[in-house]
Amino acid sequence: MAINHGQRKTMNPANSVIDQFRKRARTYSGSANWISDCGLIRAHLEACGRRPPGHALELCCGTGMVGRDFRAAGWSVCGIDLTREMAEEANQFFPCICVTAEKIPFLDDSFDVAVLRQAYFLLEDGRKVLAEIHRVLKPGGVLVLSQTVPYSDADADWLEHIHRTKQAQLKRFFTEEDLALELERSCFRVTARRRLSVREDITRWLAAAPELSAKKRAQVRGLVADAPEAYRRLHRVQSQGGAVFENWNWVVFSARKRRP
Ligand SMILES: C[S@@+](CC[C@H](N)C(=O)[O-])C[C@H]1O[C@@H](n2cnc3c(N)ncnc32)[C@H](O)[C@@H]1O
Repeated sequence: MAINHGQRKTMNPANSVIDQFRKRARTYSGSANWISDCGLIRAHLEACGRRPPGHALELCCGTGMVGRDFRAAGWSVCGIDLTREMAEEANQFFPCICVTAEKIPFLDDSFDVAVLRQAYFLLEDGRKVLAEIHRVLKPGGVLVLSQTVPYSDADADWLEHIHRTKQAQLKRFFTEEDLALELERSCFRVTARRRLSVREDITRWLAAAPELSAKKRAQVRGLVADAPEAYRRLHRVQSQGGAVFENWNWVVFSARKRRP
């Protein structure tokens, strides 16, 4: 499928997201454990319940790791991503177009399932994207939305500090409850939520972020390695021969489209 090369020069906030991800597209799939973690990926398919394979849309799909799993399970998958280089990677596995999720180029009631993993915090206007997802889902369709969130109030502030230091494109920091509210306010009914922990090698994760200076990487690494005790306990932080490991808390929501 042809990739739309438009829009790059017209939208500044989008441009900075694009600049970050285009540099990482080739190596993205192997740049952190969560990206290819089989249990996390499979949780998205399981979040659809027992419905038979139908039409799925993966939004902000990156290299399409989740969509590939749907495809392997017999689903017909389409992807969209703002970063052309990411869309090209995903396009090797299923049709993927380079557009913003704020204006989805599909007709109303087109998909049985929409999937959005680890991108809601990057969106300029998340509610607009949820409204678009609502529009393109069939009646009774399901949105599977997942993201890393704090374990509890005890690690929330420090995790936000780490995220804001590492990710210049972060639009808003979300807890699990914030995300549930976003969904409910956008005409979705949360029918299930699942939590998973994925262990990350922070040194490897930072090494795969060419947009960060060496100084910034050292700063983020220090924020994890020397985090307050409550954070260290919840995230099981461990320093080992120069490397730093910790657990990330994931939430995977199943949210059913309801009438406006
Ligand atoms: C952290 S990556 C996650 C990729 C993929 N969802 C995954 O879980 O592997 C975020 C992706 O969202 C894309 N993105 C950010 N803002 C977007 C927008 N407004 N519309 C479409 N894609 C967007 C980026 O280009 C990037 O590929």
